[in-house]
Amino acid sequence: MAFPVTRLRRLRRTPQLRDLVRETRLHPSDFILPLFIEEGRTAPVAIGSMPGVRRHSMASLVREAEIAKRAGVPGVILFGIPKHKDPLAKSGYAKNGVVQQAVRRLKKEIPELVVLTDVCACEYTSHGHCGILKGQEVQNDPTLALLEKIALSHAEAGVDLVAPSDMMDGRVGAIRRALDTHGFQDLPILAYSAKFASAFYGPFREAVDSTPAFGDRKSYQMDAANPREAIREIEQDLAEGADLVMVKPALTALDVITRAKERFKVPVWAYHVSGEYAMIEAARQKGWLDGDRAQAEALTAIKRAGADRILTYWAVQAAKWFK
Ligand code: PBG
Repeated sequence: MAFPVTRLRRLRRTPQLRDLVRETRLHPSDFILPLFIEEGRTAPVAIGSMPGVRRHSMASLVREAEIAKRAGVPGVILFGIPKHKDPLAKSGYAKNGVVQQAVRRLKKEIPELVVLTDVCACEYTSHGHCGILKGQEVQNDPTLALLEKIALSHAEAGVDLVAPSDMMDGRVGAIRRALDTHGFQDLPILAYSAKFASAFYGPFREAVDSTPAFGDRKSYQMDAANPREAIREIEQDLAEGADLVMVKPALTALDVITRAKERFKVPVWAYHVSGEYAMIEAARQKGWLDGDRAQAEALTAIKRAGADRILTYWAVQAAKWFK
């Protein structure tokens, strides 16, 4: 029945009615907070391109994680900034590397907080690429051995979930086998499966100082134009043993999130990345929009698209907003 019998505005009249018919609900447990830990740092330092986000010292990392936990955020994902970078990313798998230490510390101080780690080489390589180079080419298979070492070192430190983000072929299978043969068969893998080569990672690269010294990441990260290829990436990671999959960035890949959710029965997560966060925060600083409402609306859209959980730098504020 059409207007005037049907009046869609009837259910929008009051906040209570609107609440009664809200189709998408967000909750503090929807959000995972990314945290940056810098080796040797004694006090936190602001990241210019990510207002409100800091590179942490060990002490401020624990404080920030406690704040997140108290707000109802169930987990954090760690990114390390080492003192020393080299072409082979050795500091990425050091027993006492910055992330390994941070994992131990967080699991000791806040045992019930879920700790995830990003498994990738780019934060530890002097050239900023996500793997081992031969000339200017990122070598796929030699990089797998490196990723295995990084993942194992995180496992030994006591991490709850490892999240490979490098986009090498075969990395999930390689990491799964390495974990299994070393007694970590119960450690789950969250695969950054559908990860697009994106300008929206710009602020993150400033945060961890991982901008590639030459070229770009297009020979390993996906072309943003390819949703079917994204499905193949997810299928392949699941066949290799991924327990959860992720789509990244989020706002520019909402269709991919929806397709993944419809097609696969595993948890589908989304990464609301640094550039997506920074755009809104920059506009907030300029007074061009209501930053809180804009962040909340973006997160609602990501969940509405089908994301089961969302990695976001706005996690603590979101947990309070959607409480
Ligand atoms: C590591 C990695 C990146 C991000 C997460 N893991 C950077 C990149 O691929 O260049 C980006 C996260 C963000 O932008 O918030 N490979």
